[in-house]
Amino acid sequence: MKPIFFIFAAVLMEVSAAPDGKQLFTMNCSACHLLDQMVVGPSLVEIRGLYEGKPDDFLKWSIAPQKKRPGAIDMPSMVHVGEEGLRVIYEHIMEVSKGAVEKKQEKGDPYAASPTQAVRPQVMRIFMPDASPASIAVALDDLNGLCWDAGSSRLRYAWTGGFIAGFSYWQGNGNGLAEILGPVRYTEQASPFGADTAMKFLGYKLKGGLPVFRYTAGARMVTESYSPVAEGMGFVRSFSVATPDAVVLDFPAQSGVAVTADKGKLEGGKLTLTPAEAAAFTLTYILK
Ligand code: HEC
Repeated sequence: MKPIFFIFAAVLMEVSAAPDGKQLFTMNCSACHLLDQMVVGPSLVEIRGLYEGKPDDFLKWSIAPQKKRPGAIDMPSMVHVGEEGLRVIYEHIMEVSKGAVEKKQEKGDPYAASPTQAVRPQVMRIFMPDASPASIAVALDDLNGLCWDAGSSRLRYAWTGGFIAGFSYWQGNGNGLAEILGPVRYTEQASPFGADTAMKFLGYKLKGGLPVFRYTAGARMVTESYSPVAEGMGFVRSFSVATPDAVVLDFPAQSGVAVTADKGKLEGGKLTLTPAEAAAFTLTYILK
């Protein structure tokens, strides 16, 4: 099968104090499971039929999935979600599948009509073009999408238009990558902390549905969060960097992109910050 799928389990996720079954389902399961039709994996209707009243068996499967259906890919282990998270996902699946009826598998992109795929903002682990297999696709709103690479702990690119087509990822284009539904307008060649800095991804959590990534860049602890601009095309990128001395970060200028920083001095693509400024600063990217 495709061993690359196991990377799903390698990407850490931080579960907030009260895990939300719907949100956890969307992030971890919805790329492969739809409500009422088989896509990559069986429908929630079928899962309900198999596991109603058996949450422990459901957990056992989700942590160590078996090979069962001929022709299906291997389901990656969902052990990273944790027992508590899997239990609320179970409750969510039982709730939404109540009374639903299995539909015949349709031709075309079943994700296009799926209500979970239309939720904004949306954060999804999926294989993306021009990024490592540990990529995370983010729909900030209806217009702005970006690809954050948990493999190298950095933003890869941002696009505008629609979000992603998941269907080609599994069945259509043969290369196993999601298709981006709009032009890429911003690309980052290296981490602002420098291409040679050792990066370590520590996980992410959601705040109002939007991602907050945590990682170390060399000895510095960093959080990086994203939100859409109030109107139009672009995104707001907020950092918090714990550093004992001043830092200089690279934000090379790109045509068609206007970048401003609320702290420090941004000159010639370099942002210089005192430790106090580095503790909380924001860059705004307006895409033209
Ligand atoms: C990368 C795609 C993928 C993801 C993501 C995924 N699954 Fe699956 N799942 C599958 C496939 C494929 C099967 C069928 C495997 C088989 O029958 O050999 C399956 C089967 C199942 C089954 C049916 C087990 C049975 O006894 O037949 C359950 C329950 C399930 N998945 C739960 C989950 C949950 C919960 C999540 C998220 C936490 C999840 N899956 C995420 C692909 C996925």
